[in-house]
Amino acid sequence: MRTVNHDRNSFAKTNIDSIHHRISILRQLLPKVNTVAEICCGDCKRQYELYRKELGDISYRGLDIDPQMIKKNKANQIDCICGNALDAQVMKNFLHADVIFFGPPLSDHCDGHTLLQFNEVNPSFLDFLRLMYVDLKYDGLINCICPRSTSLGDITWLYNEITGLDKEVKVPLIHYSHSNRTGNDEIHETRLKYIEVWFSKKHENNWEILKLGETDSPSLGTQE
Ligand SMILES: C[S@@+](CC[C@H](N)C(=O)[O-])C[C@H]1O[C@@H](n2cnc3c(N)ncnc32)[C@H](O)[C@@H]1O
Repeated sequence: MRTVNHDRNSFAKTNIDSIHHRISILRQLLPKVNTVAEICCGDCKRQYELYRKELGDISYRGLDIDPQMIKKNKANQIDCICGNALDAQVMKNFLHADVIFFGPPLSDHCDGHTLLQFNEVNPSFLDFLRLMYVDLKYDGLINCICPRSTSLGDITWLYNEITGLDKEVKVPLIHYSHSNRTGNDEIHETRLKYIEVWFSKKHENNWEILKLGETDSPSLGTQE
């Protein structure tokens, strides 16, 4: 189990550009979104505030296994449950969500330094998709936030495994999210941050490849 080392001030939070990218894609895939969930949410204050600002009066619920994270989020008035992303009883609390962002730790101690490969991520993307789509019959969108080293071979493997269990699952879109800042707004050269694979049972199986934020110009979200 990888959780944050609270003795070090290096917790990897999502940069603001990638959050804006998620919002613009959500507007495209799900214009009438009402309920957003984030699993392995960490400190999700920024996402929570931006989703509510940009997507209207949505409801939001997070889940993390680390009680300190829950305490922090609750202090920010965020609805947040403490539990394991692979616990079916816990995940029943999220079946009403239109979209689930699944953001497991992508580095040791979630510090953004020692990055993990796709097949090292725990809880794994396949275990999570299987639990939600196959065991719990969830029928909404799931964005799997994958490490930037994820290959199309990894994504194809994941797709083949999950469609072998439920052939209704599709991949409408794969997003390469770039940014020139950290989650704490320190500026650096533009880098690929995440490869985000959007799964759905209600969209076409388009495998559309989208790259946002490749230049240092303002992100889609901030242009609007
Ligand atoms: C990198 S952080 C989350 C970052 C956040 N998703 C974002 O995009 O800003 C990963 C979080 O996953 C949590 N975590 C690790 N294993 C978990 C599990 N099995 N179930 C729920 N949360 C878990 C950790 O406590 C940590 O807060």
